[in-house]
Amino acid sequence: EILEKVNQLVARMTVLEKVGQMSQCMASNFSFGGDIEADPPEKLVEDGRAGSILGAFDINRVFELQKIAVEKSRLGIPLLFNADIIHGYQTIFPVPLAWASSWDLEGIKRACAISAKEASASGITYNHGPMVDITRDARWGRVVEGAGEDPYLGSLIAKAQVEGFQGDSLFSEETIIACLKHFIAYGAAEGGRDYNTVDISQGTLRNVYLPPFKAGLEAGACSVMNAFNIYQGIPVAGNKGLLKDLLREELGFEGILISDYGSVDEIAVHGAAKDSKEAAKMAVDATMDIEMVSTSYLQYLPELIEEGRILESQLDDAVKRILTYKFIIGIMDDPFRYIRPDKEMEYHFCKEHLQTSRELAQKSIVLLKNNGVLPLKKEKGKIAVIGPFANSKDLLGPWQFSRYSDKTVTLIEGLKSKFVNQSNLLFAEGCRIDSEIEGGIEEALQQAKQADVIILALGENSVMSGEAASRMDIELPEAQRKLAEEMIKLGKPTVLVLTNGRPLVLEWFDKNVDAIVETWFLGSEAGHAITDVLVGDYNPSGKLTMSFPIQTGQVPVYYNHFNTGRPLTKKNQHEKFISKYLDGPNEPLYPFGYGLSYTTFTYSEMKIDKNQLTKTEKINVSVTVTNTGSMPGEEVVQLYIQDLYGSVVRPVKELKGFKKVDLHPSESKEVIFTITEEDLKYYTADMRYQAEAGEFKVYIGSNSKVVKEASFELVC
Ligand code: IFM
Repeated sequence: EILEKVNQLVARMTVLEKVGQMSQCMASNFSFGGDIEADPPEKLVEDGRAGSILGAFDINRVFELQKIAVEKSRLGIPLLFNADIIHGYQTIFPVPLAWASSWDLEGIKRACAISAKEASASGITYNHGPMVDITRDARWGRVVEGAGEDPYLGSLIAKAQVEGFQGDSLFSEETIIACLKHFIAYGAAEGGRDYNTVDISQGTLRNVYLPPFKAGLEAGACSVMNAFNIYQGIPVAGNKGLLKDLLREELGFEGILISDYGSVDEIAVHGAAKDSKEAAKMAVDATMDIEMVSTSYLQYLPELIEEGRILESQLDDAVKRILTYKFIIGIMDDPFRYIRPDKEMEYHFCKEHLQTSRELAQKSIVLLKNNGVLPLKKEKGKIAVIGPFANSKDLLGPWQFSRYSDKTVTLIEGLKSKFVNQSNLLFAEGCRIDSEIEGGIEEALQQAKQADVIILALGENSVMSGEAASRMDIELPEAQRKLAEEMIKLGKPTVLVLTNGRPLVLEWFDKNVDAIVETWFLGSEAGHAITDVLVGDYNPSGKLTMSFPIQTGQVPVYYNHFNTGRPLTKKNQHEKFISKYLDGPNEPLYPFGYGLSYTTFTYSEMKIDKNQLTKTEKINVSVTVTNTGSMPGEEVVQLYIQDLYGSVVRPVKELKGFKKVDLHPSESKEVIFTITEEDLKYYTADMRYQAEAGEFKVYIGSNSKVVKEASFELVC
């Protein structure tokens, strides 16, 4: 029925109206970069020269523009309202790199469902998320928006996010269209510099960067956004091989393909097209449906059709995909159905959503070091909270547009809510994020000298990660290090509480402080969640999803690397002609999957029920995990597999499963994983997705380094 309605409508449209549906404009003059040379949105919408709007965060603005589209444009086709709802709309959740550390798929899904509920109440219908890029280079600012370095975990998180945003039905007024971005390999930008050249093999493209997109599509994502980078010399925005052949034909994607901001025009800037006109042709030939904000479609598609260089049927295909979703989400029949001020009042920043945010924030915290100073005792002793994040509200991170940012709970506020005797809490800013404050260190020393424990609240502010926020050096800024050095000299127990959007170099801190708590950007309830962990009301259970290097020079450093022909081992460490550094280790400081608890867990030897696997059989592997400490706690038990040889080289380890277990002191649980041939599949030398016969190792452990092992063989 929808198809028929769509066809009838397309038959009534002029070429310009078709191009209009394929063009997106900003709701205001805001720009994500470059000048926008276009008429005001009101005019574009009235003329039928815009089919969707980016960044209308105000319900009144949504209403205004929708009214123009419906009442003043010739065909009255309603608009889609697009926005970046990355980790919350009004209630802000932990940034995605943080929530990934929870390994809590249900929790992540819930956060996305709430984000959709809050955003759709304001009329937003189309998300520019989730970001499902694999991220191996901590210099790249956008690592904060993704799930980290692992394709398997990244795929599960991609699925959870799509299911959260889109719910069971896109027709529901409480869900939004999910858009998988950025297709593809954006995370492989050379040097970690945003928008930079990508030059990777097809094997890496398919085995590392593709899986989360595949998973997101299988979960039903209705949209995909291209990456800014080139692949094999061709910008993805106009790359037919990737968009038409791989995404549409091979993976069967029938949804809306939207270009990232300005990236159609940029095809020419890259030097892959003579000018914007040729760029527009390349994008349409690659089946790009919507051009985000730049205007090469509006300017050149009518001309290209007249010249017979593109076919009107190409436009029809794109417009049909766009209109189909306008029908599916119900705006064709009821254009104002998402605009619900009463629901805004009910949902935005409501208690229940804040509580969910706090719970996910607790789970996202990763304890990196603890020599026993944590948890803190609420009853006795004085605590000095020192540093630029002691009382900062900059705890939401990039990609948030909440009107409630001034209500973010700071660390001091969180601590105050738990400490009965508030005179025990001392505070000093000490320095700014990357500059000294006159007299700052002296004031901090004065406070810290009176304390029994020092909490150093340091980190990166929210503009230091996210889009266009790459760093060469991923240490904490000099001024903060200086402050820390002065505090350490006091010889008091010191806890480092970090706020940041990427893995940092922490070697000096690891050597000099007593505990390190990685809190990322935790969202609206950050201060409460951090305090819950500091005082032991919540026992930390987060595990890193990106490796933390010892030195920036190790980057990119990730656990699932290849072996090389001269791997470094315990035995050959002193030999010269080995794949190693002269001035430091190969291994990161904290590996993928790493994170401590206030209790301890021991793993039994691994049991494996057989040593041969066939296509139709399965193998069960198990360990018994025991809580050997004195607090109840949760542990993420991780399963890794290594394919010892293949038609192409294989990673030294790949995550293939995990289970989160909850254990009381002295309690044991057997954790069983089942392995089938499906788990061993990958894109082989000839790009077939299959498992190859041979020997495998299987590992179970509490992180990617500390593991028990067994072996089996796949016979085909
Ligand atoms: O969605 C984003 C994208 O991830 C980066 N460029 C800007 C877009 C705005 O929606």
